[in-house]
Amino acid sequence: MNILAPSLLAADFAHLADDMGKAEKGGCDYFHFDVMDGTFVPNISMGLPVLESIRKITKKVLDVHLMIGAPERFIERFADAGADVITFHTEACDDIENAVKLIHERGRRAGLAIKPHTDISVLEPYLELADMFLVMTVEPGFGGQKYMDMCTKKIKDLRAILNERGLDRDIQVDGGITRENVGTVLEAGANVIVMGSSIFGGDIEDNTVYFRQMFDKYNKGERP
Ligand code: DX5
Ligand code: ZN
Repeated sequence: MNILAPSLLAADFAHLADDMGKAEKGGCDYFHFDVMDGTFVPNISMGLPVLESIRKITKKVLDVHLMIGAPERFIERFADAGADVITFHTEACDDIENAVKLIHERGRRAGLAIKPHTDISVLEPYLELADMFLVMTVEPGFGGQKYMDMCTKKIKDLRAILNERGLDRDIQVDGGITRENVGTVLEAGANVIVMGSSIFGGDIEDNTVYFRQMFDKYNKGERP
């Protein structure tokens, strides 16, 4: 199942509810919510109070991407604030197994993220344990960057390993996904597709409808 996850980082924060409403109307599945701490990545975005507020205005899956050091410190609070999926970076966490357990104990789905230059082999011990794997396709920290082509092979290899092991897990991609390359990541085996600029740049509803229709075709096994 291919999932469309607009990244709120690219929305207009002065009109967040309006922008979210347009993406919902266009047929998005999740909202991707980027949390940055200025240390793990060289930028600061939004955090717990914003998540709590948007939890009140949407029933969509809230997909929280933690780009913070020692993420285990905040899992409980993000779960309480309304996250449905909590993804953290393997590079930022000393005890990955424990952090995944904390997420599961709160009844939330757990994602493990790797930066573009982190090898997919770091995920191997957790392929059964986690629910989703986020292969970053840009260096995390900023929206509007260019897709790194080297990441396509990582997605393919990870999907092949999951298939070999008979594991039906989500592979998420995040960064630089456009109308031009979305087919490439879907074909490679990614199924949760995060898009910031490609949704919120320009007409939000039209952009969402465009990807919705494309994903529906893929979901039915048709190729556009
Ligand atoms: C970057 C964030 C992304 C970002 C993607 O660190 O994790 O979610 O919003 O934005 P685009 O789709 O514009 O590359
Ligand atoms: Zn993200």
